[in-house]
Amino acid sequence: MTDKLFDTKAPSTTTTGAPAVSDRNSLTVGPDGPIVLHDVHFLEQMAHFNREKVIERQPHAKGSGAFGVFETTEDVSKYTKAALFKRGAKTEMLARFSTVAGEQGSPDTWRDVRGFSLKFYTSEGNYDLVGNNTPVFFVRDPMKFPHFIRSQKRLPDRGLRDNHMQWDFWTNNPESAHQVTYLMGVRGLPRSWRQMNGYGSHTYMWVNAKGERFWVKYHFHTQQGMAFFSNAEAAAMAGADADFHRRDLFEAIERGDCPSWVMSVQVMPYADAKKYRINPFDLTKTWSHKDYPLIKVGTMTLNRNPVNFFAEIEQAAFSPGNTVPGIGLSPDKMLLGRAFAYNDAQRNRIGANFHQLPVNQPKVPVNTYMIDGPMAYHHTGAAPVYVPNSGDRPWSDETGKVDNGWESDGEMVRSAYTLHPEDDDFTQPGILVRKVFTDAERQALVETVAGSLLGGVREPVLSRAFDYWRKIDADVGARIEEKVRKGKA
Ligand code: HEM
Repeated sequence: MTDKLFDTKAPSTTTTGAPAVSDRNSLTVGPDGPIVLHDVHFLEQMAHFNREKVIERQPHAKGSGAFGVFETTEDVSKYTKAALFKRGAKTEMLARFSTVAGEQGSPDTWRDVRGFSLKFYTSEGNYDLVGNNTPVFFVRDPMKFPHFIRSQKRLPDRGLRDNHMQWDFWTNNPESAHQVTYLMGVRGLPRSWRQMNGYGSHTYMWVNAKGERFWVKYHFHTQQGMAFFSNAEAAAMAGADADFHRRDLFEAIERGDCPSWVMSVQVMPYADAKKYRINPFDLTKTWSHKDYPLIKVGTMTLNRNPVNFFAEIEQAAFSPGNTVPGIGLSPDKMLLGRAFAYNDAQRNRIGANFHQLPVNQPKVPVNTYMIDGPMAYHHTGAAPVYVPNSGDRPWSDETGKVDNGWESDGEMVRSAYTLHPEDDDFTQPGILVRKVFTDAERQALVETVAGSLLGGVREPVLSRAFDYWRKIDADVGARIEEKVRKGKA
């Protein structure tokens, strides 16, 4: 982006390049008189200042990121034909990390899920993978997503965050149990962005050169080692340095300590999906690593800080709908809902031509028939702007089966997914608590949940929360209830 920098050593100018007569004194009638309306440079300063923010992202407002490279080190051509994942390919990329619920200025170390957004500037167009630091999510139907986010944000009357509202939503939506267990465990407080894993979370499709289809889940394992804050450390850091994670990433890259992650995938043969014991498209579930072991693909390294935070991070636009040949979506309803949400949010947040900004532009030529709109910069010259045309401007005309699609049939319904034999909401979070967490982590979980429930959660939500935790794990549920009852006594 350095070619876009102003020559900051040259004399100061107006936006139209004329000399800026004074950047310190407005034009007045005499030293003490009124400001005159034709001091255009002053008026422009005022007016531009009023417009120098774009609205913040609805969720994931607070974050930062860096540029880097993804190198495919392994041969995964039997699963995908994507150029990005050809062995030896090196692809420029951007990563942005974030918290979900907090606003722009909120502390980085408040307990929350962390966003893990990646944009790969591939030789076949931009590929975005917009995931989190956890492999699952709170809900499995996109209709619920705006309600979920509202419950995590602020009360409509007093504008405060509210534990009662959060637990009301979670306990009324038991499919949240797996993600809530991750959130209330150590993953809710990563020590730094460099020291957390990332996940695509959803199931995606990969297609190889022969047209064979596979279902995949992405895993990014931090090479810095996972590390977490305790509740006390995170609270102290929130007060001492609200931007701790943003600062940590920037300073690490600045001193040449470039963080890296190994990307692996779990691959499920296309036909397994129908008969797998859980619904593999349910975003609240993980796939057993015994059934589908990790297959290494390559390494992502972040090695370049943004030159301008606003231009390159705030105006960065990621969307899970941005795919490239060899990669597709899946029947996960959440993913299908997201395929609409992001570009629309960015048209609202940044403007209709957000994709023309340098940070969002692909590195390959674009030849789209979408034209004009505010701030249009790239254009078609005199070429036809419609299809079909009798000029020499090509258009695409594929018909028939798409190579990254899947079959579906049936009446239109509003319904939960069809259950697979082992689909339920509490088994996987129970395994997480009993088999993955250590004794100390289980104790920390009890204390975190009890602390949160003590913060203003009222009946009937409180009893529902005890029941929710007893269903996850009888012992942990009992310990949470005991602690809360004592605290309230
Ligand atoms: C139907 C469900 C969802 C909807 C409608 C939705 C919608 C949105 C919207 C509107 C934004 C702001 C985009 C922008 O202004 O640029 C956003 C940001 C984000 N979402 Fe979602 N989201 C959903 C589910 C998820 C899930 C399941 C994940 C992770 C697995 C996720 C991860 C993120 C991340 C990481 C960002 C920040 C993107 C960035 O860094 O710019 N979201 N989401």
